[in-house]
Amino acid sequence: MDVRVEEAADWSAVYTIYAEAFGQLIEAELVRQLHDDGDLILSLIAHGDKPAGHIAFSHLALPETPTIKGAALAPLAVRPAFQAKGVGSVLVRHSLEQLKSEGYDLVLVLGDPDYYNRFGFTPRLASRLKTPYDGPYLQALALSEKGKEAHGPVSYARAFAELK
Ligand SMILES: CC(C)(COP(=O)(O)OP(=O)(O)OC[C@H]1O[C@@H](n2cnc3c(N)ncnc32)[C@H](O)[C@@H]1OP(=O)(O)O)[C@@H](O)C(=O)NCCC(=O)NCCS
Repeated sequence: MDVRVEEAADWSAVYTIYAEAFGQLIEAELVRQLHDDGDLILSLIAHGDKPAGHIAFSHLALPETPTIKGAALAPLAVRPAFQAKGVGSVLVRHSLEQLKSEGYDLVLVLGDPDYYNRFGFTPRLASRLKTPYDGPYLQALALSEKGKEAHGPVSYARAFAELK
């Protein structure tokens, strides 16, 4: 499985991945809006013989701890034919390594804790933050010692506020 940065030519693959995984285009439209707004930090696509999965990260603002570099993981999807083969895990692990190397301190995700705890995400760290998504599905991962000090309100990229 090859993982690489998504390019403009991959748009139709990105749409296919989300349409198949979620049965809707809301997540693909979110990726496009994040891109158009300049809020996309990282957008990776996994390819086997065909496009298999996609992951995106966008900027977070933490006004009470402004030196902490935060990123939101969303969305993530793997096409049904490629699920449960490790593609999602490769995308998450590859991304986290890259974000860490770029100096990111904190990643937030809204998702199933049974899936995300394998990468080290915990609701405990997220519970110190105030977001529009507070609750048991909001999880955080510190990529640095500084990231563990995160607290207070968090602003997501504008595209999230426009989600229905
Ligand atoms: C969730 C998803 C991204 C995982 O990717 P994947 O490539 O299938 O996952 P991996 O092969 O890396 O990991 C498989 C493991 O995740 C588990 N898993 C898969 N989907 C899960 C889910 N929605 N919740 C909890 N665990 C899940 C599997 O049971 C398996 O567990 P095991 O390793 O203990 O056997 C993918 O299945 C998907 O796109 N699903 C539909 C869209 C979706 O629900 N996205 C949610 C993103 S928050």
